[in-house]
Amino acid sequence: MCGIVGYLGNKSAKDVVIKGLKRLEYRGYDSAGISTLQNNKLEITKTQGKVSDLIAEISTGTHTGGLGIGHTRWATHGIPDNKNAHPHSDNSGKFTLVHNGIIENYQSLKQLLSDNGITCKTDTDTEVLVQFMGYLHQKEKLDFIDTVRLALNQVVGAYGIVVLCEDYPDMLIAARLGSPLLLGIGKDEFFVASDSSPIIEYTRNIIFLDEGELAVITQDQYEVRNLSGNEIVTKEIEEIEYNLDEIEKGGYDHFMLKEINEQAYTISEALRGRVNSEESTVTLGGIYDWIQQILDAKHIYITACGTSWHASLIGSYILEELLNIPVKAEYASEFRYRETAVNSDSVVICVSQSGETADTLAAIRKAREQGALTLGIVNVVGSSIARETHCGVYIHAGPEIGVASTKAFTGQVTIFNLIGILLAQKKGCNLEKIKPIIDDLDALPGLVQSVLDQGNEVFPIAEDFMDVENFLYLGRGYQFPVALEGALKLKEISYIHAEGYPAAEMKHGPIALIDDDMPVVFVVTARGYNKIVSNIQEVRARGGKIIIITSEENAELQEYSDHIIQVPDVSHCLQAVLTTIPLQMLAYHMAVLKGCDVDMPRNLAKSVTVE
Ligand code: UD1
Ligand code: M6R
Repeated sequence: MCGIVGYLGNKSAKDVVIKGLKRLEYRGYDSAGISTLQNNKLEITKTQGKVSDLIAEISTGTHTGGLGIGHTRWATHGIPDNKNAHPHSDNSGKFTLVHNGIIENYQSLKQLLSDNGITCKTDTDTEVLVQFMGYLHQKEKLDFIDTVRLALNQVVGAYGIVVLCEDYPDMLIAARLGSPLLLGIGKDEFFVASDSSPIIEYTRNIIFLDEGELAVITQDQYEVRNLSGNEIVTKEIEEIEYNLDEIEKGGYDHFMLKEINEQAYTISEALRGRVNSEESTVTLGGIYDWIQQILDAKHIYITACGTSWHASLIGSYILEELLNIPVKAEYASEFRYRETAVNSDSVVICVSQSGETADTLAAIRKAREQGALTLGIVNVVGSSIARETHCGVYIHAGPEIGVASTKAFTGQVTIFNLIGILLAQKKGCNLEKIKPIIDDLDALPGLVQSVLDQGNEVFPIAEDFMDVENFLYLGRGYQFPVALEGALKLKEISYIHAEGYPAAEMKHGPIALIDDDMPVVFVVTARGYNKIVSNIQEVRARGGKIIIITSEENAELQEYSDHIIQVPDVSHCLQAVLTTIPLQMLAYHMAVLKGCDVDMPRNLAKSVTVE
């Protein structure tokens, strides 16, 4: 979703900002822009399209100096065109601003501006905010800082903003409410960005702005204040852990392919220092102090969006199976607005790769308000969800750049197993139930690697079916969420319509779709084997094409399938990690064969920071 970069220092702000915007491209966007300030003069260039289009628009000799801001926009209010691209400025031309989020009361602010003779030039909520700043500045005779502060105190909605003012040639103001922003603290230079990827090349020292905080940055210092009381806040400088090569493609054609192939490593990272197979124990430092409270809970809710919700569904099966208490997985967008029974007897687990998904963040806030203990399973260290949960477990999968989530999913399923084992043990569960899972966890990175090594076996399937318009994915038990995930992967990057269903549900509707052209992917494991073989027969009888992903070695599956991919057999609650990988590969190859933009599919954003 929208990305922000700001720079103040001795380098060329244009170069830093443009490079930063390129690093933010993975978030998904439809237009880009830059504003720089030199000799008390603001310059703005913006355009619909990619950062490369923006570079082409920048005339030689412009945008000099060391102070600038930039933005990649993902349209919410107003179509993606040049006019609606950020940065936006007020009519006096004194202020320019980039903004992530949504100003919810923009209509009433726009009316107020209009009543005072100020007409907006664009369709955006963002322009209303910068015009409002210009209006307050002139009316109240305020300085730059007070202008921004006063304006933000009247805003309802979500924002991460960075603002420049023509009268302050060495000052950058950033503020956050609901949209992440971080400061990079370099030597005699400062950075602001919506995530750390534009900053890491220059400094590892980061400050995360918290909700309702405003940072004032000048040549030689920064100061953070809270917006409500205007008091100075002392911020801790934290160190970013990952390296630059982790956010580059490293020889792969696409980030998605790189990330699929990293999964043996990322799972070993998720397990590192957490599993002792000799003693059959699991250690999770991030929930250690909360274990008793979790065990005392009467119900567990798990909430997430998209792929993270699929992992949550698997997580709910794992926890219910190992702990024998009710566990419910629910879309965060539903959970946040529904009348739930959440209270102080509840644990609410939030699952998110980015840790910034707006609905998931809102769900966790609601759960906290209702007295629940909140636990995060998050990939991005220091992200909003990780910071707002009482406790949690990081996935440690490293930066995931491809919009289609892959390594985060398998990491999330792995973490659910760790949490399940740990809690089951503390609850006094029989070691016989747990030991096989721990042994399989130990072997998991190697097993994942063996599935990755046979990745090319999927290619002929993609070749056979690249021209179809519909796909069906069916599975039972733990493999039902895998079917959902396989279908989501395919539709989001290849634009082929795909549905995932519990295999038995087929008879209640989807079977009507089966004809000679319909490919059906069955995910077949030991549990429910005979039942799903019957479902395969039902599709065969109607001429459907059968693709089987299975952990079972059985001649009848060979006979019944047009294509079959075999993966190793592991404990039921871990099997999804292995059966999902061929489905990720299938979606990838189909999308590449169809010439789709794999890493940045149309209309999608990596981090969905609006609801
Ligand atoms: C932590 C360190 C790890 C170190 C290990 C040694 C971090 C990020 N991790 O790992 O580098 O090797 O100790 O003991 O510094 N948290 C949440 N919500 C979330 C995710 C995490 O509150 O959604 C909190 C946890 O409660 C914990 C902290 O973040 O306090 C770090 O979590 P995690 O990395 O999972 O903990 P450890 O595995 O102990
Ligand atoms: O960052 P999150 O895990 O919270 O993101 C949730 C979804 O937006 C995300 O999984 C989305 O569905 C992906 N495009 C799936 O590949």
